[in-house]
This record gives sequence, C-alpha cells and structure tokens, in this order.
Amino acid sequence: MSRIIVVSNRTPGKGPAAGGLAVALRKTLAEREGFWFGWSGKLVDTPATDVRFEDIDGLSVAQIDLTRDDHHAYYAGFSNSILWPSFHLRLDLATIEAHWYEGYRRVNQQFAHALLPLLKADDIIWVHDYHLIPLASELRNLGARNRIGFYLHIPFPTSDALYAIPHHQELMRDLSRYDLVGMQALRDVAAFTEFAEHQAPATLSGSPLQAIDFGRTEVDAFPIGSDPDAFARLATSPAANKMVKRMELALHGQQLILGVDRLDYSKGLPQRVEAYEKLLANDPRFRRQVHMLQVAPPSRDTIKEYQATSDALDAICGRVMGRFAEPDWQPLTYVKRAYGQPSLAGLYRLARVGLVTPLRDGMNLVAHEYVGAQDPEDPGVLVLSRFAGAAEIFEDAILVNPFDTDETAEALRMALDMPRDERIARWQGLMAAARNHNVEDWSKSFLERLAPASARGTATRDILYLASVA
Ligand code: F6P
Repeated sequence: MSRIIVVSNRTPGKGPAAGGLAVALRKTLAEREGFWFGWSGKLVDTPATDVRFEDIDGLSVAQIDLTRDDHHAYYAGFSNSILWPSFHLRLDLATIEAHWYEGYRRVNQQFAHALLPLLKADDIIWVHDYHLIPLASELRNLGARNRIGFYLHIPFPTSDALYAIPHHQELMRDLSRYDLVGMQALRDVAAFTEFAEHQAPATLSGSPLQAIDFGRTEVDAFPIGSDPDAFARLATSPAANKMVKRMELALHGQQLILGVDRLDYSKGLPQRVEAYEKLLANDPRFRRQVHMLQVAPPSRDTIKEYQATSDALDAICGRVMGRFAEPDWQPLTYVKRAYGQPSLAGLYRLARVGLVTPLRDGMNLVAHEYVGAQDPEDPGVLVLSRFAGAAEIFEDAILVNPFDTDETAEALRMALDMPRDERIARWQGLMAAARNHNVEDWSKSFLERLAPASARGTATRDILYLASVA
C-alpha cells in the first residue's frame, strides 16, 4: 500500500493529541506508513534546507525551519492578512502588501524542495489548508508525478471576494495541479464551481486571461468531523469532572451558556455578547438565572485586526457587566486563555446552551464536540450559525443568522426554555449526524478518492469537477 505524506503549516506536538484531526491522521499514518511534514515552529536568520525527522509519540514528523522574514510574509502576511479575511468574506479587514506574495511563494517552494527528495514514486501526498495552495504546482515543477490532494479547512470565497485577492488567477491555477481538492461544505464546492465555470473578468489592460483547465482536478465536499464517542467518554472522565465540580460551585444552579472560540473576527464574538445582552434586556426573568462563559484563547495576536477584535470584545463585555452586574451577581465570565480538551469536555457537558455563532466558518468542530459531550438523559441545546459548514449537517440545532442579534437572543430564549423531551429528541438527531460525519471516516473517504484509479478499481476518471451541487 502507498505511504501517506501529510503536509501542513503546523505539525502535531508532543503530549496528548489536541484535536480530532491530529488523532485521525495519526491513526492513518500508523496504518499506512508515511510521515507528517511541515514547519518546525523555529525561526532562523538564513534559509534552511535541512529536514529534521523526529519521532513524536510514535508519529514520524519531518520539519524545516523558516526565516523570520519569509515566515512573516507567508503566515501573518499573505495567509492571514489576505487569504484568511478574503476567504471569510471580510475584505474590509484585509491588508494588501504586494511583496507578501513572494514570501508566500518562496515558502511553498522551500517546502517543495525539502519534501521532494523524501518522496517515493507511489507516495500519496495530502496537503492541508490555505497556507499551502501552491505546493502541488511547486512539486510538479520539480518533477513530482505523485497523486496529490488538497483539503481546504476554511470556507471557499465567493467569486467577488476571490477576484479581490492579488494573484488569485495563479492560486486557482495552482489548485488545478492537484488531483483532488476537498472542501468542507457543498456551499464551498458551489462557489468553486461558479469560478471554474465563469473564470475571471478581464484584466485592467483588457488582455484576455488564459482559462484554467480543471480537467484533471476532482473537487468535492468532504465535511470534517470529530470523534463524538471519544468526546462523550472524555466528558465523564475524572479531569472533566474536576472542571464540572468547580463550575457547579461557581454557578449556584444558574444555567450555563457557553462559547469556545479562538479570538478571531470570523467567530462573531461581539455580536454573540450583544445577543446575550438583548436576552437579559428583553426577558428580566433570566437575570440571576443564567451565566454566559466565553472562552477565547488569543490567536495571531501580532496582526492588528486581531488586536482590534480583542479590544471590541473587552468593550462589549464591559458594557454588559456595567449594565447588568450587581454586587453579588455577574452576568458573564470572559476568559482569554486556552484550556485542555478534558476541561472543555466538562464545560460542554455542563452547558445548557452551546453558543456557536461564527459569522462564517469552514466547519466548526466546537459544535461537534459540544454534541459529543452531552448527557443523553439531559442534553443541552446547540445554537448554531447558519454560516458555519456545520449547519449543513446539524439540522437539529437552532440555526441563527449571527448578524441578527435579535434572532440570536430569541434562539437563546428558546434554548433555555426548551423542555427536556425536545432537547433529547434534537440531541439524538445531532449525535447521529456527528457519528455519521466522524473524523476517521472523513480521512478514509478523502484518501480513498485520492488513491490511484487502479487501487480504487475505477477504469478511468472522466469527472472534471463535480458540478452536481444543487
Ligand atoms: O481553521 C483553520 C486553522 O488554520 C486551523 O487549521 C488551525 O487550527 C487554526 O486555524 C489556528 O490557526 P493558526 O495555526 O494560525 O494558529
């Protein structure tokens, strides 16, 4: 069987694997052989060519260092100040510096040069996320003939947002050099199809662009998931119970509304707190009866838009405290730090409402983990943004438009008032969907599709891209 080479910007660290993705890919690599390749996390002054292999808890990980300047242009610059905001339809938050693209390209070239000598002819390469869109092109330019797949963990942009990205034509051409491109949701495949069918408008000079041929690239939705049963076990583990006990003492019987998100403008945190403020304002019976906990570990905090998001959240949390807090009651707690999976699992289980309201999100695994952690006899309610990929699979959540804080406030009221029978019925539907879209099957189905036609028993592939998205 061919080896699998996983490539991503960050590689898994030591200790208990944090997320379902790392667990699932670890398992795949253990069964299939192969290694994980990516940035070492180290910044150096001169470009490095050496690859260091390390055994990380039984997983073979190959890493390279990046120069400080290249990393800045590639990560904070092109990836997270141009691609991230544009793909999340926040062009107003994009900063465009022309030279960042060269750094982005250079890092992808450096990855390709370092990876190529490590490859065998029949290795299957699985590249992850927007930092590495050009990697297949760079590998193919060096002569690689392997099957190469790409998975986009974030949403694919609408055509208008895509056209606003410098070098978008080259990036799309880069995608056409993959054999398989996986997206989170049908909406993303539809946006890709829209581009592929109409391609770019004329350039400023009026000269026609050469159409990109996606004839060798299959594109489809592969919604990622978690391991909900593992999360269910974790939620009743001693470590989770410890957190539950701590919180129960603090809550004094109040119902918990919980949000857990990286501190990122795509997560809609100020809108979420405003919706909670409206709940308390509209329905005074909830005062002293509910408590909102927002866990928001800082993220990408060298980028000014992330600092501004953090400031906006400070301001609105302060406003809600000032408006509703009393000497012996606080309406909310806001924690800017990360917690381990066991503590989070305990918090999820305790929360009567899981409030997951990103303005736009690839999938959102917090929604999956919240569902997995519930007590089947007395589950909480998932209030979910209709703009998260998860909305395509979690029909039994209360779906909201996160921009409409009146609607989210009303969803919170419904969730808090929901009788147990309805909570159980909805949760059973959610848990069935989480199991149906588990991360292990996700990884298997992507790799099965990426395998050469001979290994799949398919004689020829005549699919261009899947336009079968209703
Ligand atoms: O959701 C996209 C993603 O890149 C994830 O893969 C990652 O866990 C998260 O954002 C955090 O990103 P960063 O590596 O920039 O901290």
